[in-house]
Amino acid sequence: LNNSLSLTPAMGWSSWNQFGDSINEQLIMETIDSMDKSGLKEAGFIYINLDDGWQRYKGDRKDHPGPLEADPVKFPSGIKALADYAHSKGFKLGIYSGPGDLTCAGYTGSKDHESEDAVLWASWGIDHLKYDSCCSHADAPQAEVQAVVRTMSLALLSSSRPIVYHACHCGWVSVWEWAAADGANQWRIGQDISDDFNYPGNREKYYFDVLDMLDRGANLTQYSGPGHWNDYDMLIVGLEGKSGQLVGTGASDVEYRTHFSMWAMVASPLLIGADVRTLSNTSLTTLLNREIIELNQDPLGKPADVAWESADKTQQIYAKVMADDSYAVALLNRGGATADMNLNLRRDLTIPWDKYRVRDLWKHEDKGPYDMPYSVEVMAHEAKILRIWPVEKTRN
Ligand code: DGJ
Repeated sequence: LNNSLSLTPAMGWSSWNQFGDSINEQLIMETIDSMDKSGLKEAGFIYINLDDGWQRYKGDRKDHPGPLEADPVKFPSGIKALADYAHSKGFKLGIYSGPGDLTCAGYTGSKDHESEDAVLWASWGIDHLKYDSCCSHADAPQAEVQAVVRTMSLALLSSSRPIVYHACHCGWVSVWEWAAADGANQWRIGQDISDDFNYPGNREKYYFDVLDMLDRGANLTQYSGPGHWNDYDMLIVGLEGKSGQLVGTGASDVEYRTHFSMWAMVASPLLIGADVRTLSNTSLTTLLNREIIELNQDPLGKPADVAWESADKTQQIYAKVMADDSYAVALLNRGGATADMNLNLRRDLTIPWDKYRVRDLWKHEDKGPYDMPYSVEVMAHEAKILRIWPVEKTRN
């Protein structure tokens, strides 16, 4: 199954990380207006995704027969009007459901009503669906999870509208192995992110910090590419420990910048999770770095792989080739102290360029040309993000 959508990872905003199910149409319209004014739309963040909690009813379809409805208090004008508003401002609107009787937050799910729901969303003008199976199908066997993913995929395909399909938060089965063939454009690779860069206690508490998520994705890059992406979860940039929903104490500006850079490098969807109306200038500057976004939206759609790591894993080099044959490289210092890091093209990228030039995508500075390894000081939890081009040989 193939809907030919999402040839580059989806970019936009999702309501969950900051607001949980406390959402309403005024908040969404203000989010749209703010993203329009701040330049986020221009930079490519166009999907405005309602997560769980837009629905009218808690409880299953037996108690609430009939079509799904938006909560009339939260969304008095209805979802169609909201989609019209989003479209009039150059955005797209996403919605949320799940394959069970209930969604994760206990609202009515789509079980046995997949086609009806898909047609309804299409009639509202919906452009993106997050279909969340982590609660209704937790621990279900792979074949069952795959079947519900496929059922909604078919329902969306036969609706009258192109709808990007985020299938599944079901990392307990190998969703990445089959979801693309079943028509999914993105799928979560792990449980919910926490608002932490590196917080060793999180794993036991079931939440992944930024480094956990990167490690989880490192062996899965072969499954990600144009139209079908590993989703590392929504961004935590700007949450600053104030999320209404996620655990975590927040990260520093440098750590948020590293997180954003790495999500771009690994070609994850980039969905902002913070309140965009109150973002600090620093967070906004982070999210608006177009040279970083370009790595994420490159038409070749290659996720970066770990090209080298130190024995103790505190230093890593991630790299990926770009459509113009340049390379994007991240020198990631996961350790707690400043480190000198070296990039050796033959060792790390297995490319034989004798001379190359380097652009630092955070300093916005060109450096070189170099004919030897590139060395740079990298702060604790910082990533230097570089783009590298060959320079024609000038010497014999
Ligand atoms: C679990 C998902 O992982 C979250 O991102 C969010 O969608 C909630 N479910 C909503 O209930």
